[in-house]
Formats: sequence, structure tokens, C-alpha cells
Amino acid sequence: MSRSREMILSILLTLAAAVHTASQNCSGRCGQVVIPYPFGVEPGCFRDGFAITCNRSTGGSPRAFLGASDIEVTEISLPQGQVRVQVPIAWQCYNESGTESISLPEINYNINGVYKISNDRNKFTIIGCNSLVYLQSQKDGSGSYPFNYYIGCLSYCRDVTSVINGACDGIGCCQSSFPAKLSDSSFLFKDYSHSSILDFSPCTYAFIVDHDYFSFSAANLMMDKNTSMPLWLDWAFRAVATCDDAERSTNYACRSENSVCINSRNDAGYLCNCSQGYQGNPYIDKGCQDIDECTLPEKYPCYGVCTNLPGSYRCACRSGERGHPLAAPCIPNTPFAVKVIAGISSAFLAALALILVLLVLQKRRLTMEKEKLSRENFDWILYKKMMSRQVHRMRIFSLQDLQRATDNFHEGGVVGRGGHGRVYKGILEDDRVVAIKRTVVTDERQSGTVSEFRQKEEFLNEIDILSQINHKNVVRLFGCCLEEEIPMLVYEFVPNGTLSDFIHKQDPGSAISLDIRLKLAAESAEALAHLHSSTSHTIIHGDVKSSNILLDENMMAKVADFGASTLMLTDETKTVSFVQGTPGYIDPVYCETRRLTKKTDVFSFGVVLLELVTGKKAIWDGEPLALMNRQHLLDILDEQVVEEGGTDLLGTVVDLAIQCVCRQQEERPTMKRVAEKLQKFRKLLRKQRGQSCSDDMASLLTHATNSFTHYHSLGSQRCSKLDLKS
Ligand SMILES: *[C@@H]1O[C@H](CO)[C@@H](O)[C@H](O)[C@H]1NC(C)=O
Ligand SMILES: *[C@@H]1O[C@H](CO)[C@@H](O)[C@H](O)[C@H]1NC(C)=O
Ligand SMILES: *[C@@H]1O[C@H](CO)[C@@H](O)[C@H](O)[C@H]1NC(C)=O
Ligand SMILES: *[C@@H]1O[C@H](CO)[C@@H](O)[C@H](O)[C@H]1NC(C)=O
Ligand SMILES: *[C@@H]1O[C@H](CO)[C@@H](O)[C@H](O)[C@H]1NC(C)=O
Repeated sequence: MSRSREMILSILLTLAAAVHTASQNCSGRCGQVVIPYPFGVEPGCFRDGFAITCNRSTGGSPRAFLGASDIEVTEISLPQGQVRVQVPIAWQCYNESGTESISLPEINYNINGVYKISNDRNKFTIIGCNSLVYLQSQKDGSGSYPFNYYIGCLSYCRDVTSVINGACDGIGCCQSSFPAKLSDSSFLFKDYSHSSILDFSPCTYAFIVDHDYFSFSAANLMMDKNTSMPLWLDWAFRAVATCDDAERSTNYACRSENSVCINSRNDAGYLCNCSQGYQGNPYIDKGCQDIDECTLPEKYPCYGVCTNLPGSYRCACRSGERGHPLAAPCIPNTPFAVKVIAGISSAFLAALALILVLLVLQKRRLTMEKEKLSRENFDWILYKKMMSRQVHRMRIFSLQDLQRATDNFHEGGVVGRGGHGRVYKGILEDDRVVAIKRTVVTDERQSGTVSEFRQKEEFLNEIDILSQINHKNVVRLFGCCLEEEIPMLVYEFVPNGTLSDFIHKQDPGSAISLDIRLKLAAESAEALAHLHSSTSHTIIHGDVKSSNILLDENMMAKVADFGASTLMLTDETKTVSFVQGTPGYIDPVYCETRRLTKKTDVFSFGVVLLELVTGKKAIWDGEPLALMNRQHLLDILDEQVVEEGGTDLLGTVVDLAIQCVCRQQEERPTMKRVAEKLQKFRKLLRKQRGQSCSDDMASLLTHATNSFTHYHSLGSQRCSKLDLKS
């Protein structure tokens, strides 16, 4: 039974992951219709609201329908945010005594709140003579006129010869535009006498149609009643109104690399698009691919040497040539050497030597100036970086914004102090509560020095890294302000302080339950696991400790402070020039080798886990928790925690922590594994509480313990005696 539960959990987890990346078995088409994500046919292959039903039992080719409706879709366009659908027309036919038959389909395109009728690619169209038809929309069901929109079209024919092919302008055919935001349509026919025109126009037809598709001809007056017309619908993610809101929402769709958000042009909502220089599907992981401009000379001209770059291309003349290669072929430089040889004389040589000296001097001055400039231009570089695709989600705040938000950086608003500055609580104009990290250059002499430079570097680093993460257990960076010497960072405000304070500054009376401790550990572990496994790059936090884990209003853990973090290619390790970290948490192997790896974070996390179960600080009684042996750790466990969880369970938690702080990096588990284990411990704890120890649970416990047996027999000597000196 326990096995099957685990299996169900793991299946659920895989399913969740699959939905996120749409990478499972998705057919991606229905007959002739290509169905790109976020649309999809099979469960798990589409985003909420973007289901397509594929009916393969229709006899001929399979047909695709929007959601569970009978609206047939024939084309899905991602960059335009449109789908082309095929719907039956409305008509009314006449005989001598009046109306003979009528068909008035009422169509509601508002399926799952996704679709609106495109007002810039369609026209409301009627065909017939002596006809007046209204397009009605936005039904609200009340009163005798239960619609909010009525648009009319009138057509008249004196006789059949007055009808002009190709021109739909009132004779036998009428077209009208209509406003945006409509998502349903029906038609109202007004009767006029048809008796004199029955022989060439027995019916009136009304429909909304793709205006590029439909072209009127006299033959249309006698067209088949049983026909359907194509029209375009605008789709969007409409749960939020604009990109600004969307970027803050949890299921933001434009999260993949080089994907940007654009507001829906038809009513509230947003779409994603690949940023400039990229093409593909912006809704899937790595969907936006660089365009190789050099292979498309028609679109991207280059008369010189073309080099493709990510998101752009470079076009330059060969050496020895000059010109404007984007516009015209390069021309050879005037051959300098030829001139020199021609005019050779001793006087000329002396002049040449002088010129050379001057050139060298000038070059040196230039280099110096450049250096100075590059410092002054730091903000400019930063600004460009912010504006670039990578960090488009960042907002740039003005100093005034932040002064207003913090009551001019009032002392009372300080919620944290660090080595380099302060963190203020602020309230933005839109009532969002934020934390503002302000770094101050305390020493005048420091200005422009290496130290200031390093701080700026750290700042850039943090922006770079945080802008690439979006996880509920990682603190969010909203933006920054560039108007101070060292720019300020604006984060989401996390109100409940740090995990460190939570554990260590607790009133003696109010003990923290084991479940909360395990929950906070699991959430932090999940955040780190996410950083370690994020798509193309790995992010190593580099300074994991309980005072870098914040608690929000729901007591959810959020990992913060990415000043020491590193972004690297997956499975790469990085040798750093100076080791950053905190005594008690820092991985001794990292200290020795200066090689930052994922396992460096695992070590530090192990210490946090020990802090959580013992309630002791990372260095307790002069000895780092990470150095203590198993028995010592068991002896100093928080009493209430042991009472709650029992020695068996607590033993396994301690074992997990010990494994994390193992001297041998290879023997440390991955953060993902740690997160899974912690979740499992929580389940165990709940079971323990729910029922007295049943066989079922005992077997689970044994299972959990067994996986560490190996470690006990092999590793306890090696791993519990860490020679950690820092
Ligand atoms: C995906 O579909 C293929 C072919 O239909 C099948 O062989 C394979 O087992 C499927 N894989 C999964 C994970 O369903
Ligand atoms: C598919 O189309 C056929 C024929 O039009 C219809 O009878 C059947 O109910 C449809 N199936 C689904 C699942 O809609
Ligand atoms: C016209 O059509 C109506 C409705 O079908 C029918 O009742 C009526 O008899 C028809 N009139 C003539 C003259 O055919
Ligand atoms: C309408 O046309 C479809 C396909 O073109 C056909 O299957 C159907 O039988 C037609 N219905 C009528 C009433 O003529
Ligand atoms: C999407 O991006 C491309 C290329 O950057 C651009 O040409 C296109 O107009 C954009 N689409 C929309 C709907 O903005």
C-alpha cells in the first residue's frame, strides 16, 4: 500500500512536470491542423482553456474543434494570437407569400474565456437583395433587446444587372466593420418584399467572414444555404488584464527564455512572442530559437562578412576593406604601404618615427580614458542590461518613487541591516509592499575603488540571477533604482523575518512544531533544487544559511540573497578567486579547492536542517553542528521535536542532514533527493500522528531507515569526523 501511494505521488509529480513543459506524448496535430502548445488535444498537452477536441471518427480526415464546442478550427497562429474557425452561415429564404425557411445559428465563441471575434481581420457580411440584417452581440438576456451591440447592413438591387462582381458595397452585398471585444454573434433579419426578385435572389445570407477570403460575385446570390465561412478569432490568456499583472501571476505563460509578453489587442489579456531576433514557440521551454540572419540575405542584408549572434548578427568588412557593408559592398583601403615605399626618403622616415611615437602616446591616453569612461558608464551598461531581453521583467524605479515609498528612507522603516547597507520596508504607489535594499558607500575614499566595483558586480550578479528564477520559494525581485552610487534593489516584501530569527529568537513558551520545521526545510530544499536544475543553466546559491531564508505571511520559506550566487552551465564547476560564505555553513571542500558546485549548497543546507531539528545555532558551544557525530547530534535535539516525532523519525532526519554535510562531495545527495526525503518525512509524521503505529507505517519507516544503512556502516567514521577549519 505504501509503495502504491509513493507511486501515485511520483506519477502525479511527473504529470505536473509534463504539463509544465508539454513534453509528453502530445500528437500536436489533428488531421491537417497543426496544434502547437499552449493548445493541445490530449490531457496534459494544453494549458487551461486551450483544449482542442479532435474527432477522428468523422469519416474523412479528422476534424478539430475548440474545446467541447462544435466550432471547427482549421488553423492556429501563435505569433498573431489567432485561430481560424469555420462556422455555418445564417440565412432566410422567401416564396411569394413571405418567409419560407430560416436558419439562425447563434454562436458563442467565448469558450473558456479565451476567444474574441477578431475585428481587424473579419467583416460582417450579408448577401441578398432588398435585405436588412442586424448583427447582434453581447447577449445579456434581459428585456426585449437583450443585446448590447447591434450593427446593421442593408442591401438593395434594382435588378440583377445592377449587381457588380467583386464589389460588396450595397448592391446585392453589404459589409460592415464591427467593434473589438465581441465574443458571440447572432443575426436578426428584417423582412422586405422579395416577390419581384425571387428569380435571382431567393434568399438573404448573413455571416462574419475573413475579409481576405471573401470576395463577392453575382453567383453568391444563389449560393448553397448549407455552407460555412472562415473567420478569425483572437485568443489570449485572459485571467489577468495586462502583461504587468501577468508577470506577477503564478502561472505566467511567457516564462521561457527569450519569450516576451505582449498585451492582447482585443480586450483584456496577454500573449507571448519571441523577442527580436528569435523565432519559434514562446510558450515552451527553449521554444524561441535564434534566427540565423546570415542565411536570410533577402531579409537581413549584408555585403561584407556576416556573423550570426544570439538575437542579432554582425556584418563587417574584411580587414583591409572599409565601407558600410549593410548598404553596399566594402571597398579596399588605400594601400598605405605602397605610398610609403613611393615617397621613401630620410626626412620622411624621421617624420614617420615621430608619428609612431605620437600614436603610441595617444593610444595610451585613449586606454586610460576608456577605463575611466567604463566606470562612469557602469550605470549605462547596467541600464542596457536591464533593457535587454534577459531582464525585461525588471522595472526601473525612480529615486522619487522609492523616497515616496519609504517616507524618504525614514529610520523607522528599516527592517534589516547588513554589512553594506540597509533594507527598508516600502509601499509603492500601487499599494504593493516591497523591501528595498540600499547599499551605501560609507567611506568617501571608497568611491570608485575596487571595493565599490565589487559591490556593483555583486549587484549585477543578483539582478542577473534573480531575473531568471521564478519559484514560489525564492524571493522575487521586482526591479531596481539606478539613481544612486550603488543601485538599489526592490524585492517583494517577506514579512515574517528570517528562518534564523524564527528558530533562535523564539519565546521559550511557544515551541515550533516539527511539522513546521520539516515544511520549512522541504520548501527551502525545493527552492534550491529548482535553482540547481533550472533549464539550461544551474544556479548555485553559494551562501545558504538560515538567515538567508525568509518567511512570508503564510509561514512559507523563501530563499533570498543571491549576491554570492553563480550562474553556470549544467554540471560545470566553477573555480572562484575568493571564497564567500559564512563560518559554520561553508563547505570545507569548497574552502580548500575554491571550486563551487551544487554540493556546496547541499552542505550548507545540511547545516540548516541540523539547526532546524536541534534548535541550536550553526556553531554551538564552540563546535560547528556539521562536525558533530551522530550521537552528539541526537543528544542535543530539541526536546519537544523528539517528543513529537519520536526517535526513529528524528534519527532518519539527522541521518539525512549528516549525509548532506558529508566530507565526500559525491556521497552528498542532490537537493532534489533531499527535498523528496523531507516531504516523505512529513508524510510519515502525519501518519504517526493520525494513527498509532500500524504495520504499514512501520514498514515505511524501515524503508526510510534502510536507505541510510549503507551510509552508517561505511560513512560514519569518514563523514562524522569532518576536519572543518574555517
Ligand atoms: C508515446 O507514444 C509512442 C507511440 O505512440 C509510444 O510508443 C510510447 O510508449 C509513448 N510514450 C509514453 C510515455 O506514453
Ligand atoms: C465525431 O463526429 C461524428 C460524426 O459527425 C459524431 O457522430 C461523433 O459524436 C463525434 N464524436 C465526438 C467525440 O464528438
Ligand atoms: C411559403 O412558405 C410557407 C412556409 O414554408 C408556406 O406555409 C406557404 O404555403 C408558402 N407559400 C407558397 C405560395 O408556396
Ligand atoms: C451540408 O453539407 C455537409 C458537407 O458539405 C453534408 O455532409 C450535409 O449532409 C449537408 N446538409 C444538408 C442539409 O444539405
Ligand atoms: C512578434 O515578434 C516579431 C519579431 O520580433 C514581430 O515581428 C511581431 O510583430 C511580433 N508579434 C506581435 C503580435 O507583436
